[in-house]
Amino acid sequence: MTARSTNPSRGTSTGVRREPFGTTGDGRLVERFTLTSVSGVTIAVLSFGGVIQSILVPDRAGALADVTLGYDTLPEYEKDKSYLGALVGRYANRIRAGRFSLDGRDYTLAQNAGGNHLHGGMRGFNKAVWSVEPFEESGDVGLVLQHVSPDGDEGYPGTLTSRVTYRLTARGELVIDFFATTDTPTPVNLTQHAYFNLAGSGSGDILGHVLELNASRFTPVDATLIPTGELRSVRGSPFDFSTPEVVGARIGADDEQLRLAGGYDHNFVLDRGAAADLTLAARLTDPVSGRGVDIHTTEPGMQFYTGNFLDGTVMGKGGIPHRYRSGLALETQHFPNSPNETAFPSTILRPGEEHRSRTIYHFVVRD
Ligand code: GLA
Repeated sequence: MTARSTNPSRGTSTGVRREPFGTTGDGRLVERFTLTSVSGVTIAVLSFGGVIQSILVPDRAGALADVTLGYDTLPEYEKDKSYLGALVGRYANRIRAGRFSLDGRDYTLAQNAGGNHLHGGMRGFNKAVWSVEPFEESGDVGLVLQHVSPDGDEGYPGTLTSRVTYRLTARGELVIDFFATTDTPTPVNLTQHAYFNLAGSGSGDILGHVLELNASRFTPVDATLIPTGELRSVRGSPFDFSTPEVVGARIGADDEQLRLAGGYDHNFVLDRGAAADLTLAARLTDPVSGRGVDIHTTEPGMQFYTGNFLDGTVMGKGGIPHRYRSGLALETQHFPNSPNETAFPSTILRPGEEHRSRTIYHFVVRD
């Protein structure tokens, strides 16, 4: 399959539209920002949770579909428990029992997922209203989002100041940069939790998508989805996506790890050698429409999650329920539970340092 950037002649304008989106239950004003680029890709972002609400992408014939799961209204985002499209922090993924020690001190975090800490706690960064400033720069359009998490937030030490930029380029790339600084040592692991359905949100499940992951190992989990500490080869198992594979082809296989997670919900160890720079993490394709997304990142890992907890009870955009496996997430990240695993790459940020991480979603059309 050859890939090309989305049709550059399609879009006519580049810009950012800013409009009110609503007021939260506790009186915070929320805005929506719509980024339009000449690539034909259009992305809507909310100041609530830094949520990517929609991503319009053309197919082979130029027909647009919204390829990400979400909701039409703010109250639905306030209730959301699936992190649809949201920025996740301070710590994306799980920390065992919500406990860790750092510099000889013990910390206890909110335990919001079966006794473990998940995605920053009860009110993570996905529920914050971020301050947002739009920018336009040499054909790119984007947003700078900022959020200050106070000392003790969800149990974490120190005041953490986070900045995230979304930049949409003329080639149809969404470049996401994460920055953070702290006044006290603290774990940090920021990610974007978009769910993709490249056939179009609400159109069915993602089991026919084709996925390639640049990972020869993954981190197997226990029954509570905490990594055991092992880095296991994917070879010969349903976790081998080192060449393109249909997502649903082996998801029902008789495999202990698939059983424990109810499908794919695992961190893959990206093959990057010693390089700390951008590396290909994943290529995802809907073979029917030809829509694809290539993901590059500076992160060491990626959570591949097949929407196993979506159960059709919550309505999404257009009143269509978020059905079982109707979207999949590819969350670039440090490994889960790193604060308790000294052999995993460190997630500890110290005063005077800057946390920096980049992930690029390149929306393409494949022939
Ligand atoms: C991540 C986790 C999943 C689930 C989703 C949100 O992908 O790994 O287990 O919690 O977020 O529902």
